[in-house]
Amino acid sequence: MRIKFFAYGMAAYFYFNIGLVLPIFLLVLLFIGLLNSIQKKHAILRNFPILGYFRYSFETIAPEIQQYFIERNTDGKPFSRNERALAYQRAKNIDATTPFGTQLDINQSNYEGIRHSVFAVKVNHDLPRILVGGQDCTQPYSASILNISAMSFGSLSENAIVALNKGALKGNFYHNTGEGGLTEFHLQGGDVTWQIGTGYFGCRSDEGNFDPEKFTQKANNPFVKMIEIKLSQGAKPGHGGVLPAKKNTAQIAKIRGVKPHTTILSPPSHSAFHDATGLIQFVVLLRQLSNGKPIGFKLCIGQTNEFELICQEMILQNCFPDFITVDGAEGGTGAAPLEFSDGVGMPFEPALIFVNKTLIRLNIRDKIRVICSGKIISGYSILRAIAMGADMCNSARGFMFSLGCIQALRCNSNTCPTGVATQDKVLMKGLVVTDKSERVFHFHKNTLHAANELLAAAGKSSYKEVDGSIFMRGDEFTHLSDLYFPDNLGSVTQY
Ligand SMILES: Cc1cc2nc3c(=O)[nH]c(=O)nc-3n(C[C@H](O)[C@H](O)[C@H](O)COP(=O)(O)O)c2cc1C
Repeated sequence: MRIKFFAYGMAAYFYFNIGLVLPIFLLVLLFIGLLNSIQKKHAILRNFPILGYFRYSFETIAPEIQQYFIERNTDGKPFSRNERALAYQRAKNIDATTPFGTQLDINQSNYEGIRHSVFAVKVNHDLPRILVGGQDCTQPYSASILNISAMSFGSLSENAIVALNKGALKGNFYHNTGEGGLTEFHLQGGDVTWQIGTGYFGCRSDEGNFDPEKFTQKANNPFVKMIEIKLSQGAKPGHGGVLPAKKNTAQIAKIRGVKPHTTILSPPSHSAFHDATGLIQFVVLLRQLSNGKPIGFKLCIGQTNEFELICQEMILQNCFPDFITVDGAEGGTGAAPLEFSDGVGMPFEPALIFVNKTLIRLNIRDKIRVICSGKIISGYSILRAIAMGADMCNSARGFMFSLGCIQALRCNSNTCPTGVATQDKVLMKGLVVTDKSERVFHFHKNTLHAANELLAAAGKSSYKEVDGSIFMRGDEFTHLSDLYFPDNLGSVTQY
């Protein structure tokens, strides 16, 4: 009897509660529906006042649906699931092997690989370094051949910047500040390359021009090892940096000397110089003000004759930048107009080959280090870049993955779910600096170790020996397979 009473009582309790909730819920729906049917901005909601919301909510989670349910291991853009997984495994310092063989279609003409040697050499366990600093540099810097590419505080969160810098400190490589300026978060002890963009953040006069005094003060900070003038960036060449209003907090606005909560567009070009002559003079000025630190510039190649002109100007003034950073058009960004990301600038491969060959042709290659960036994420991509003419590499998105980035494609919205590319303090809390700085350290170390292993497999004991001859492309096989001959038969028949 008691049990029955209890059961009936519970049923009545739920019934009456639902009885109240349901009409209120329907009333709210009716109200929303009514409002939507008379608004004039959204046609879908005007025609389908309630169901229309499904479209918007599915559109919001489209990247997640794509990633979790549709994407295969070898696709996914800009980085495939396999590439991301590799970066995560290296960052977590766990087994980064794959089972059962390649998932690539290796008979396609765009397949690329390394020609290994049957006389593979022993793997070097020291991580490779290279000295940066030419004839006029009095404070040369011994750099790792893999470093953190430019990403500003503003684009990335404060926790992300601190974790990157602490990882760089532990692994002895450099951290490029990006154009947003040198901040306390970059000064955690790791080596820093300070980037100066067209907004001159951190060395900016009230009018927005270059301020030599402010520059001198920061450039002589002992953690600043090199200075990079940003001419352009692969994801948006010819367009200045973009800091969306949502990410321009009071703290960031103060650092940059701009108005908070407004979208900040850096000018598309520098006000401190307007041509090749001015650029080289600016290099001289920065070198003087920094007391001889390595000075370089970063660019995405566009009109090739402009780059040649800059090189001729170096020869004319007998002044050479200590390094040139070549960024491919496939490069990443926090925020850029799609037309610029998809339709402007030269891709990584031809750009790097062009820069290297131009410097060789003008007989100045030995005076300048060439740094490159553009989807460097594995040991293979490092070796490939060196074969195309780079001395060393920078990685931006590779290190973002090591911080836990899941390629949610929300860097421009302040809603990055992993706390990497957001200024939302709540989301940022998810990124624990002590854990992620270790991952940054391991990603660097394990990726370079993988490059060392490939080098050894190719029978080489130094990166200086790496050139295009150790690489093969699928289009060669297509050609050779017509003949049914191995690729070295031509030389065999000569004997
Ligand atoms: C979130 C984000 C912010 C970036 N900010 C800058 C910047 O401030 N200055 C710059 O020169 N490049 C910037 N870049 C471009 C990178 O430094 C790099 O050149 C480009 O992404 C290619 O490297 P990756 O393929 O390893 O990402 C940014 C890239 C990303 C993803």
